[in-house]
Amino acid sequence: MLVNYERSKTLNNTGKGIAITGCGSAAPEAVLTNCHLSQIVETSDEWINSRTGMRNRHIASQSESLSQLSATAAQKALAMAGISAIELDLIILATSTPDDLFGSACKVQGLIGASNAVAFDLTAACSGFVFALITAAQFIRTGVYQNVLIIGADVLSRWLDWSDRSSCVLFGDGAGAVVCQGISNGDRLLAFEMYSDGTQNDSLNLNYQSQSKSLVENITVESGTYQPVTMNGREVYRFAVAKVPEAIGKAMFHANITAEDIDWLLLHQANQRIMDAVAKRLKIPSEKILSNIAEYGNTSAASIPLALDAAVREGKVKPGDTIATSGFGAGLTWGAAIFKWGSE
Ligand code: ACO
Repeated sequence: MLVNYERSKTLNNTGKGIAITGCGSAAPEAVLTNCHLSQIVETSDEWINSRTGMRNRHIASQSESLSQLSATAAQKALAMAGISAIELDLIILATSTPDDLFGSACKVQGLIGASNAVAFDLTAACSGFVFALITAAQFIRTGVYQNVLIIGADVLSRWLDWSDRSSCVLFGDGAGAVVCQGISNGDRLLAFEMYSDGTQNDSLNLNYQSQSKSLVENITVESGTYQPVTMNGREVYRFAVAKVPEAIGKAMFHANITAEDIDWLLLHQANQRIMDAVAKRLKIPSEKILSNIAEYGNTSAASIPLALDAAVREGKVKPGDTIATSGFGAGLTWGAAIFKWGSE
């Protein structure tokens, strides 16, 4: 890992760094409460809130597509960054639930009118936003692109078994976006780490299941659909509490900072107990945790930019603040990044 990191550093011979200059978010209108869920499955507000910190989640209607939510979040991020869509060079849409299996990034490009950009999807479940941020940074640092839009969006409500209380209470829908720009006076992405472990792939899945259909002699085709999310909650919990502090710790080491230098801890919003445990292990006070889990639940790739956007617009996160972020989830995948907010 150290070797890869060093290599990525030496590739940065253009003198270009990155700054995150705008953010935006969008969530569906309909709010599903814990009380609603207790009418669908055998659960209670008390159980869900004490185990996860969740109270509400937003659920996309038929007219609220992933592409449209993403485009709305993107337009707000562009407005904050003070650039127009036409100035974008690259759009990366991190999602596991595109409207179209061929990808939805190009649809978003069309919706916002970013006609000079190239757009593609990136799939890494709840690590998607952090992986996309790090991917964007490589294009900027090498001088290939100047203005990059990164979107994290998911509509997992469309892929849940609403009779499975162990998973359906956890997820909600939303989109969040940030604008990254090349700068010549430093680099505000201080360090990053990325990991995956395919041996634990069975812990969290949204698998395709098919039936065979004979086409002609000796040739069958498979026809089916994706099945609802299945998760070994306890395994994922254990994995997150062990691996996330390790990844952030390594990123802090490479950034040459300590926990005291971190202004905000911005974790994937999977469970309040996971966020609290990670903060404790890193010796970061709980007041520094950015959390919106009570209102949105786990929005997968959207959760980090959604929480960031709320904190920036509330005036909590200020230009120059140092943020430690980490995404983790299916794959299994996990990653961390340390960055300074804004361009000042
Ligand atoms: N309401 C009431 N009871 C429930 C519910 C519910 N909604 N769900 C499960 N239970 C029951 C279980 O059946 C079990 O009962 P039993 O003891 O009689 O068997 C009991 O509650 C305890 O179940 P646990 O699974 O041990 O509960 P736990 O405290 O581990 O909490 C949870 C479950 C919230 C899922 C937790 O394990 C968790 O947060 N895991 C991590 C999830 C995560 O981080 N996902 C991130 C990745 S998401 C992505 O990548 C897309």
